[in-house]
Amino acid sequence: MYDFAPAAGATKPEIYAALIEAADAVTRGESDGIANMANVAALLGEFLTDTNWVGFYRMVDGGLVLGPFVGRPACIRIPVGTGVCGAAALGESQLVGDVHAFPGHIACDARSRSELVVPVIRDGAVIAVIDCDSPSLARFDTEDQAGLEALAALLADRI
Ligand code: SME
Repeated sequence: MYDFAPAAGATKPEIYAALIEAADAVTRGESDGIANMANVAALLGEFLTDTNWVGFYRMVDGGLVLGPFVGRPACIRIPVGTGVCGAAALGESQLVGDVHAFPGHIACDARSRSELVVPVIRDGAVIAVIDCDSPSLARFDTEDQAGLEALAALLADRI
């Protein structure tokens, strides 16, 4: 049985350190990428408070396709360059304080107000993105971005 949770009162760097330790533990030695994304999506849901959707889109045949997530059913396919996820699929993390101000934002879940999306890069190519959405404006900051980018680096050869 896995029972991972952030410590009460933990700082963001502490939360991400614990999240990455848990993600390392559940994915180490497992070659099935879908299983690993599913467990990490569950961990994101456990560790990141004030979120309504957390999970993965995978790069398949040059476009993003929905992967494991925690949240409401979402858009299945997103073209690279479209919306926040599609922008991150070009290779740069997207930290969006107000999704309504982001040109081309795709509203899969009307509750989402802010969003952080980081690419997972293997051998110089984007193979997936990790998408975290919050019902609060400006929920995510550069500490969240650094934490999720470290998680993405861990997962690059595990998904
Ligand atoms: N809002 C995202 C779409 C994905 S969902 O929110 C799960 C975007 O604009 O890329």
